[in-house]
Amino acid sequence: MNLKSERLKLKEVTWNDLGNIHSLHSIWEVEEFNTIGIPDNIGVTKEIIRPVVEDLQSKKRKFYGWSIILKKENTFIGMAGMTLSNDKFKMGEIYYKLLPEYWGKGYATETAKTLIHFGFDFLELHRVEAGVATENIRSVKVLEKAGMTREGIRRKILPIRGKWVDNYHYAIVEDDPCP
Ligand SMILES: CC(C)(COP(=O)(O)OP(=O)(O)OC[C@H]1O[C@@H](n2cnc3c(N)ncnc32)[C@H](O)[C@@H]1OP(=O)(O)O)[C@@H](O)C(=O)NCCC(=O)NCCS
Repeated sequence: MNLKSERLKLKEVTWNDLGNIHSLHSIWEVEEFNTIGIPDNIGVTKEIIRPVVEDLQSKKRKFYGWSIILKKENTFIGMAGMTLSNDKFKMGEIYYKLLPEYWGKGYATETAKTLIHFGFDFLELHRVEAGVATENIRSVKVLEKAGMTREGIRRKILPIRGKWVDNYHYAIVEDDPCP
């Protein structure tokens, strides 16, 4: 399911996107608050995106992953995704990451809003959630601008470069105002 917003195309990830995604994951600033860490080689990235690519064939989707592309220039600028809970809970967890030269232009906020609308309007979810390392101020601002509420903190839950890091838990529920 490809998505669109004012300035962006979100195109479902296929094996053709492996090189772009590997380059994105190899940038230190992009992975600073991520538990995956810098991949040693492209094979590691391949295994990371395998569930998303293989799920494309599935009748009952659990993993969505999109390349984020600037509509005008047709340029790859990052990646986003959503992982679904089982049917009963009707939840999806979102994530996004952009190449640093495209930070600070509102693209992440535009992406987060698009994913939230997709979750509620197309997938008919009840909740959309996201987790963020407490020091990841940029992403905290993105989630709040996308209408999410901070529901709590999970202490020392993220293994990042040999340390246990705190994580904020954010969510938006279907009857919350959706910007
Ligand atoms: C998080 C990320 C996607 C944000 O992308 P972005 O395109 O810069 O996001 P936006 O431009 O939509 O919004 C960023 C906001 O943070 C603000 N911001 C940036 N640096 C900041 C700082 N050091 N302190 C406070 N606010 C800051 C920006 O001003 C902007 O807010 P504003 O629009 O109210 O001015 C990007 O930094 C990234 O890819 N990081 C690495 C991957 C990552 O951490 N992903 C999220 C995992 S939860």
